[in-house]
Amino acid sequence: MIMKKNPIRVAVTGAAGNIGYALLFRIASGAMFGPDQPVALNLIEIEPGMGALKGVAMELDDCAFPLLTEIVQTSDLSVGFKDVDWALLVGSVPRKQGMERADLLGINGKVFVGQGKAINENAKPSVRVVVVGNPCNTNCLIAMKSAPNIPDEQFFAMTRLDENRAKTQLAQKAGVAVKEVSGLCVWGNHSPTMFPDFYNTKIGRQKATAVITDEAWLKDTFVPTVGQRGKAIIDARGASSAASAANAVVDTVRDLVTPTRGDYHSVCVISRGEYGTPSGIITSLPIKVDAVGKWRVVEGLRLTDYAKEQIAKSNEELLEERKVAFGQLGLSL
Ligand code: LMR
Repeated sequence: MIMKKNPIRVAVTGAAGNIGYALLFRIASGAMFGPDQPVALNLIEIEPGMGALKGVAMELDDCAFPLLTEIVQTSDLSVGFKDVDWALLVGSVPRKQGMERADLLGINGKVFVGQGKAINENAKPSVRVVVVGNPCNTNCLIAMKSAPNIPDEQFFAMTRLDENRAKTQLAQKAGVAVKEVSGLCVWGNHSPTMFPDFYNTKIGRQKATAVITDEAWLKDTFVPTVGQRGKAIIDARGASSAASAANAVVDTVRDLVTPTRGDYHSVCVISRGEYGTPSGIITSLPIKVDAVGKWRVVEGLRLTDYAKEQIAKSNEELLEERKVAFGQLGLSL
């Protein structure tokens, strides 16, 4: 097979972890960048994970993926982020039963300072960074602040998992296929305060609120179910979501490299004050990608007063997380 395209080099931290295990094989198979795009994988783990990482790399070899050109295994961030096009920051201490994602601020914050610096010094200037490790919005902000040479617009955190969860909840309630649900943006923080905006959502060609007319269910059951879904998975599985999180990483990156035809998607990006959100935080907004691959916030959505209130609460939480984390880490705004 003749490969005409240069490989896209993708770093994945926490590569031997549960999400990594569900993610790497899909990247290597072409699910993220397409069936004719070669990829090179820089697998990053902490020292104690290197043995398991070797096994993961062996399994990648054993798949004989035609698109996979190289596997780098390292615990050295300067090697791991060298010349990468994408940095998928998956590795972090996951939350356990009884914790909120924000409880991880102090534990994981330092890690993202180190990773941001290493990306700044080693990655391609065009690198794009997706943060998955929680609390992902604030970790993303920390990495962004630690990488001053990389434009802020190249940093993303993940709420696509929440959007996918929300779409399925509505589809099941309405008794339709999930592909019928569109226009569903999850706003704010990837935390229980996030707001899945059912008012702008469509089911088929109708407004979701015309199909599901029980507004109390939408407000009091649907919204908290989406916000607490990560906890429900931890309670049921004894471990946090892995395959669905990996799937959402694939969806996020694929839709950031593909010009949008139709539906927008939820991505946490740097706010410039759109829809009244505080500038300078990483918050979830409705995103489309234009023909040359540049993302933008979708304009002109009407937000109800209730939606505005919920979104404002979630963004206030992000301001508070920033205050706590930046205080602990000695970072300035
Ligand atoms: C999730 O939403 O499943 C992940 O962010 C893991 C968690 O702690 O909830």
